[in-house]
Amino acid sequence: MEKNLKIGLFGFGCVGSGLYEVLNRSQLLDARIKTIVVKDRNKKRSIPASYFSFEAEDILGDPEINVVAELINDSEAAFEIVKRAFRAGKNVVSANKKLIAEHLDELLALANENGVSFLYEAAVAGSIPIIRNLEEYYNNDSLSAIQGIINGTSNYILTQSNEGISYQEALDKAQELGFAEIDPTLDVEGFDSRFKLSILIKHAFGPTIAPEQIPVKGISGIRKIDLDYAKERNYRIKLLARAERIGDTLFAVVAPHFVDSEHFTYNVSNEFNAVVVEALFSDKQLFIGKGAGSYPTASAVLSDISALKFDYNYEYRKSERQIVINTEAPLAVKLMIAADNDINLNDLGLFDIEERYSGVKEQYVVGKILTTKLKDLFARKEISLTLFNDAPTYASAELDEQLITNQQFANV
Ligand code: HSE
Repeated sequence: MEKNLKIGLFGFGCVGSGLYEVLNRSQLLDARIKTIVVKDRNKKRSIPASYFSFEAEDILGDPEINVVAELINDSEAAFEIVKRAFRAGKNVVSANKKLIAEHLDELLALANENGVSFLYEAAVAGSIPIIRNLEEYYNNDSLSAIQGIINGTSNYILTQSNEGISYQEALDKAQELGFAEIDPTLDVEGFDSRFKLSILIKHAFGPTIAPEQIPVKGISGIRKIDLDYAKERNYRIKLLARAERIGDTLFAVVAPHFVDSEHFTYNVSNEFNAVVVEALFSDKQLFIGKGAGSYPTASAVLSDISALKFDYNYEYRKSERQIVINTEAPLAVKLMIAADNDINLNDLGLFDIEERYSGVKEQYVVGKILTTKLKDLFARKEISLTLFNDAPTYASAELDEQLITNQQFANV
């Protein structure tokens, strides 16, 4: 049964103003914004002042408003707003990945208690409808891996750097275009991708993973020697977020990766995002689209609002089957570590070394490392680390066999 939707909007920044525009331009959806709550009383606004209020209660206490669109930057303030909205019996649509990654279970319990929906397609990969696909299409147990580029800003910077634009210039432009976070370290240090990956893991595999559990390395420490290595071998460096299921273990990481021209993300440029989903029978599938920016992100919010017309809610069916992140599992991944010549790369725990190079000033080594060591290595600023995209393996032949058995088991 279609519902009449009256929207209370929190925030009128890049995405909030985009939502206003797309709602006005969309002929198909009979849903209108009634009130917009903003923080800054002095900012000049492009639409009539009668929309605006500075009191959350003007939305939360308005019985006519049945949808809250939470599009503010401050995730702690958003947490309070969303909880109050649920308690007031209002559905919530949000684009706030930090809020969702850090508080999802608590918010879901409250939404369920109050019989309302909580939708957040815009929080991950902007315009790409990935959450609903993971929920609805891949609703059985056949997913084995999900990986992709889920931060538009860092992909924009990496693409522009390839074209000879400096890192700082590209970052400034990303900020100007509205892709970057207010604190862009969230983008370039990989934290934004990590929030999004933890949300994707929930919908792809079931468990709630606190973002801090996922090792993260951003793009700010990439060295010229890494870029040169990539160029010589016809690789590109992409900031990939990966989650791979190996039996009942989940390997998850956000880090720069070398990708070759066969990889689905090789040609994904600028603010475009891409998500590769790997499942037992469908094999690999690529979703691509704009991952940041006013209208693309607002289009995902619009789609959630439209889904509320039919009382849509995520069902989290996969959460019933618990997969634990086995951080003790002796998995190994291939990577390259580069540093100045005065750094000792021999005691980092690399094994199966494939390549070593030492130049006048810099050196690198390519080999394998236990995934349990990634967090500590990622914290070291004096070395750069770039992963290869090969699937993780167990660290010994005997355990490799076990891996094969586990994968077969997982594929049953
Ligand atoms: N800063 C984010 C990005 C915005 O660059 O992807 C979209 O979540």
